[in-house]
Order: sequence, then structure tokens, then C-alpha cells
Amino acid sequence: MPIDFARIPRDALPALLRSAPKAELHIHIEGSLEPELIFQLAQRNGVALAYPGVEALRAAYAFTDLQSFLDIYYAGASVLIHEQDFFDMAWAYLERAAADGIVHAELFFDPQTHTARGIEMGTVIRGLHQACERAQQQLGVSASLILCFLRHLSEEDALATLEAALPFRQLFVGVGLDSSERGHPPEKFAHVFARARAQGLHCVAHAGEEGPPAYIEGALDVLQVQRIDHGVRSLESPALVARLAAARVPLTVCPLSNVKLCVFKTLAEHNLPALLNAGLCVTVNSDDPAYFGGYLNTNLLATFEALPQLGVREAYQLLRNSFEASFVPPAQRDRWIDALDTAFRAAAV
Ligand code: ADE
Ligand code: ZN
Repeated sequence: MPIDFARIPRDALPALLRSAPKAELHIHIEGSLEPELIFQLAQRNGVALAYPGVEALRAAYAFTDLQSFLDIYYAGASVLIHEQDFFDMAWAYLERAAADGIVHAELFFDPQTHTARGIEMGTVIRGLHQACERAQQQLGVSASLILCFLRHLSEEDALATLEAALPFRQLFVGVGLDSSERGHPPEKFAHVFARARAQGLHCVAHAGEEGPPAYIEGALDVLQVQRIDHGVRSLESPALVARLAAARVPLTVCPLSNVKLCVFKTLAEHNLPALLNAGLCVTVNSDDPAYFGGYLNTNLLATFEALPQLGVREAYQLLRNSFEASFVPPAQRDRWIDALDTAFRAAAV
């Protein structure tokens, strides 16, 4: 039976968006480190921070572009030393995810941020993986890991990173590409993505956040990615939009991130409605929730409040896309979509 969207009032959306089952596909786990946990870990590990306290650190979260954020984000990650620290960070996120109705999360992590400081690859991956395992057992949240290469570093460094991670191949499901986009086109990482594909790893890449549509084309053509992270600048190229729509390439869009990093001036000016109208498989995500003002439900609620042209149908489509774009077996994906349908049907009056 189809869902009768006309019978679901728009004012039911906040509660429905909060409680409906959903997946998160674009969350940098180091971007979930709240200032309180940063200071707790700094004290535990004897790491000195450039800020006197939580409030001063939060006050520094006034970003002008991607790079201004990355500088402070990498500094925050310097408090992570032991396996327990990586576990604690991921566990804190997964508990919040469960409270947001997230039933599946694919977590990005940046191993080079840690291995460059002398932390072992195994320390990073084991700590994160144990939190994912416990989330399944204790929270009923499915979680998997995607290893991201830092694009401001060389491809040689990325290749060495992938080799160091391969002993833990069963503990992550894919690779991604993040960090400073401008001046670091996807083509720079052709070999390391080919090596990852040969290992059966899923491939995604940040593209078209600050970079031009050509970077999205490069990620598709050269890296052969299955999803584009952000991709909001795709609208500048009608040919690219047609291609993304025809191939149903998902775009993992992060509305609050885009405003905090000045990609859009306000949420009301975000092009998410236009992306949906163009027939693209868009999902909503939190990116770096501790830095950008909120977790997934906050992103969803703020987006629907700022953009009144988005209705119940679009809410359903965005949540459904989160499952369709995920790297989970089809039978599991279909069970979650059934649960989503049930939640929407129950909101009809
Ligand atoms: N690393 C963490 N967040 C990122 C973003 N929004 N873009 C690129 N790299 C990132
Ligand atoms: Zn991101």
C-alpha cells in the first residue's frame, strides 16, 4: 500500500523526523569530539591544548572556510592516544546516534591524523571497531568504518596508509577522500583508489564542497566512487546533474556544515531543494557535529524549518535515500525501509 503523504500534516514533521529510523553516511568520527571530551582526554593523556578551557575552545569555532575549520579539527584530534580514547569517542557518538533514531552509521576516520603523531594503525582501528561492535550489541545500532585519505598529503602517504590498514581489512568497509579540497583534485589519488577497489573496498570521495564540478567528474571517472560526499556544486553543471541523476549516484549533503563553512550564507539559501528537484539521490548528514552545531536530527529539523518548500514527501525521500545509499546488504536495507514506511503511515491523520 502506498503512503498517503497528503494525510500527514507538515506540522507532524519535527516529531516524525526525530523518531523515524534513518542512516547516517557522512560523519567524521573525529568531528564528533565535543570540547568536554577533548579536555577530558587531554587531561587523561597529559596533552597540552592551546585553549584554557571548554568555553574558549567553543568560542574559536567561527570558521570562514573549510581550511579554517580543518586547522582546529586536527588540533582537537591530538588528544587521542590510546585504543580506549578512540573507543570513547566513537561510543559517545553512537549513543547520540541511537537517541536520534539512527539504525545504521558509516563512520569516516582519518588515520593519517594519528599515525603522523606516532599512533599505531591498529590502536585507531581496534578502538573504533570495538565501539561499533558494542553499538550493535547494546544499542541495536549497526555501524561500519570508512578509512579516509587526507588529500592535502601525497598519494605515496595514502598508499602507505592503505598498506598499514590492510591487516585490519575485515574491520572497515570502504575508503574515502577528505581534507582540503581546493588544489587537490581526485586524480592525485588514482592509484590508491585502484588498490582499494582491488581489495573489494567501497569507494567514496568528498567532491564539490568547495571544489568545482570537474572534481566530482574526476571522482566518478578516475576514482570510480559509489557516492559523492557533499557534491553541492554539481548544480553548476547541468550535464553532471543529468549524469548523477541517471546513475543514481548519492550525494551525502551536510546542511549545517555548509553554512558553518560558508558554502551557503544561510540554510534558507541552501540548494538541497534544487538538488532533490533535479532528481538526485540526496541524503542529509552531520559531517562534524561537534563543530557545526548539531547531530543528524538537528540538521534535519533546522533544514525543514529553514526551507518551507520541503514537505512530508521530501522528508520521506531523504530518509529513504539514506538506506538506499548505504553499503548494507539489500535484505537488511529493505527491512529498515519497511520500518520507515510504518513510521510515516502511523503519522497519517
Ligand atoms: N574532514 C572533516 N570534515 C571535512 C569536510 N567537511 N570536508 C573535507 N574534509 C573534512
Ligand atoms: Zn565531510
